[in-house]
Amino acid sequence: MTALVRNDPTIVNVALGTRSYDIVIGRALLASLGARIAALRPGAKAVIVTDDNVARYHLEPAEAALRQAGVASSRIIVSPGEASKSYRVFEEVCEAVIASRVERGDLAIALGGGVIGDLTGFVAAVVRRGLDYVQVPTTLLADVDSSVGGKTAIDSAHGKNLIGAFHQPILVLADTALLDTLPEREFRAGYAELVKYGLLGDADFFAWLEKNWREVFAGGPAREHAIAESCRAKAAIVARDERETGERALLNLGHTFGHALEAACGFSDRLLHGEAIGAGMALAFEFSARRQGLLPMAEAQRAIRHLADVGLPTRLQDIPGPLPSVDQLMDLIAQDKKVKRGMLTFILVRGIGSAFIEAGVDAREVRVFLSEKLAER
Ligand SMILES: NC(=O)c1ccc[n+]([C@@H]2O[C@H](COP(=O)([O-])OP(=O)(O)OC[C@H]3O[C@@H](n4cnc5c(N)ncnc54)[C@H](O)[C@@H]3O)[C@@H](O)[C@H]2O)c1
Ligand SMILES: [Zn+2]
Repeated sequence: MTALVRNDPTIVNVALGTRSYDIVIGRALLASLGARIAALRPGAKAVIVTDDNVARYHLEPAEAALRQAGVASSRIIVSPGEASKSYRVFEEVCEAVIASRVERGDLAIALGGGVIGDLTGFVAAVVRRGLDYVQVPTTLLADVDSSVGGKTAIDSAHGKNLIGAFHQPILVLADTALLDTLPEREFRAGYAELVKYGLLGDADFFAWLEKNWREVFAGGPAREHAIAESCRAKAAIVARDERETGERALLNLGHTFGHALEAACGFSDRLLHGEAIGAGMALAFEFSARRQGLLPMAEAQRAIRHLADVGLPTRLQDIPGPLPSVDQLMDLIAQDKKVKRGMLTFILVRGIGSAFIEAGVDAREVRVFLSEKLAER
């Protein structure tokens, strides 16, 4: 009985009318990729976009799965890392997709983490005015966040993700076994986005993670459950607010502080995105408790303790190397966020599992808070 349940993939539907699609989650699902694509788009060809790291482990099995189902495919391999979300690589991939004689009705497959997903999704949004694409996430961050919801983008010299489109995939195939080759540090960074769903809207899920996070890291059914819960949470929010006119902004919990820290570290290996979000969520909880009086400090500390337990940075002193002054951090926050008459929009919390959007946060409060935090370093 348990064995049967374990082998059956979990399916989460993203309900967006004619643009609805399934997220299929389970262990060792990659072998079913071709059959699932052939069922969705009979006769379609596929072009796989991936990076060198992912290609080393997972490209051949993906190609074999397509071949078995009679899906013809070609491959485009780019360099790993954020630098591939550039105009130059975007152009190369567009040209390579066109050269592979992909027609409308054929599809692209993003086999990789968030970088590959964002890049491939944007290529698919524009080549021949729109190709279908499938997400095969290979990082935890991509499983629970970037592969779901249809935001695609590359980076501008003015900032990350500034050139992009909303373009939903037709399928997300989240094979949790692909994460077995992911470096632990990358897994932990992705965990920050996973626990975010508990912290922002689901206290029971957070309590479950407090008990079971070690099993999530180890793999097996707990990992699948955690990924499925996260996808359900994101799918529900995206279905209600696809274009982020309101509620979807809750997914930015921890991201105002987090983005400023990420930028302060030059978007380098010093601080991965998920690590910045770990620290950012810890700061958002403490700010909500201590400066806004929205929840008891003990409850904020419970959230922060869990982030620290899994090994994410939660204090500015956990970030290696120098950090800029409070003025520079405030400038980074102002660049990222609209400041209207000295007021910032922030995702604040009334407790674990109850985040809300607050458009009237006094920038002076944030500055005092950050000065204190910098002084603790
Ligand atoms: N579209 C969205 O809604 C959304 C949401 C969150 C983040 N993002 C974007 O996602 C990107 C970050 O994604 P990421 O953290 O997945 O980074 P990533 O794609 O750069 O992957 C991290 C590293 O892990 C390697 N890797 C990936 N899968 C592997 C595997 N299975 N085994 C071994 N190595 C593997 C990659 O080559 C890379 O070096 C950012 O560009 C961010 O802007 C987008
Ligand atoms: Zn994020």
